[in-house]
Amino acid sequence: MEASFSLPKDRIRILLLEGIHESAAQHLAAQGYRQVTRVKTALEGEALTEALKGVHMVGIRSRTQLTAPVIEAADRLMAIGCFCIGTNQVDLNAARMAGIPVFNAPFSNTRSVAELVMGEIVMLLRRIPSRSEQCHAGGWDKSAVNAWEVRGKTLGIVGYGSIGSQLSVLAEAFGLRVIYYDTMDKLPHGNATPVATLQDLLGQSDIVSLHVPQTDETRNMIGEAEIRAMKPNSILLNNARGR
Ligand SMILES: NC(=O)c1ccc[n+]([C@@H]2O[C@H](COP(=O)([O-])OP(=O)(O)OC[C@H]3O[C@@H](n4cnc5c(N)ncnc54)[C@H](O)[C@@H]3O)[C@@H](O)[C@H]2O)c1
Repeated sequence: MEASFSLPKDRIRILLLEGIHESAAQHLAAQGYRQVTRVKTALEGEALTEALKGVHMVGIRSRTQLTAPVIEAADRLMAIGCFCIGTNQVDLNAARMAGIPVFNAPFSNTRSVAELVMGEIVMLLRRIPSRSEQCHAGGWDKSAVNAWEVRGKTLGIVGYGSIGSQLSVLAEAFGLRVIYYDTMDKLPHGNATPVATLQDLLGQSDIVSLHVPQTDETRNMIGEAEIRAMKPNSILLNNARGR
């Protein structure tokens, strides 16, 4: 008889919450994991604890809060998969104490955020939100006062990591001049130029876009003094993890 050292794959129960795409279940099935349940929403409280009973692996996005009591109550849990970048919705210490590894997908939304930022820059420089509101109220303002092309404007990127550097590439293709500030030495893409301080960046940028992680250092990193250091009529975008 062949010795078996691990639980057979077809007995491993996997729960995917928050509408994780069915391709994940197909991929798992192709690897031999047949017991995969998909739930469209996030769960919380008693419903989450109940749903995790007997589950070996759980897949979540950023809404499901896997707190210490939830992790401790999960009787069979052996892996947590975060189908997103951040892991602050998981009590990592509790997971560590329970010997449960936590996986994330650091590049899953990189391009998506960079694209969104480009869209926001164009829409805001053209003052589309206020024009749209006016139009829906029956108005029609054809004036181009205070509506600008992005070409030739300066974009200041705070945090030149996965998202910030992708944004840099897209922004230069749009004709923006790109400067960036990071606490680590980061190799520039294209003609992007690093600046020495956040203050330098704020004073030069027509658009400031934040792409830093949530840490003690970045909490409240933009306050009154920083906003005052920005150019008049400039735009501040925050698509980093906010709470
Ligand atoms: N809006 C969304 O849908 C969405 C989606 C994915 C990620 N995010 C968030 O975007 C942020 C950036 O993600 P990423 O994948 O590019 O992360 P990353 O770790 O690749 O890059 C972060 C960069 O910030 C720099 N940094 C850290 N502290 C800094 C500081 N005090 N000042 C300046 N730079 C600093 C780091 O050196 C790094 O280069 C994260 O907070 C992430 O959670 C948002």
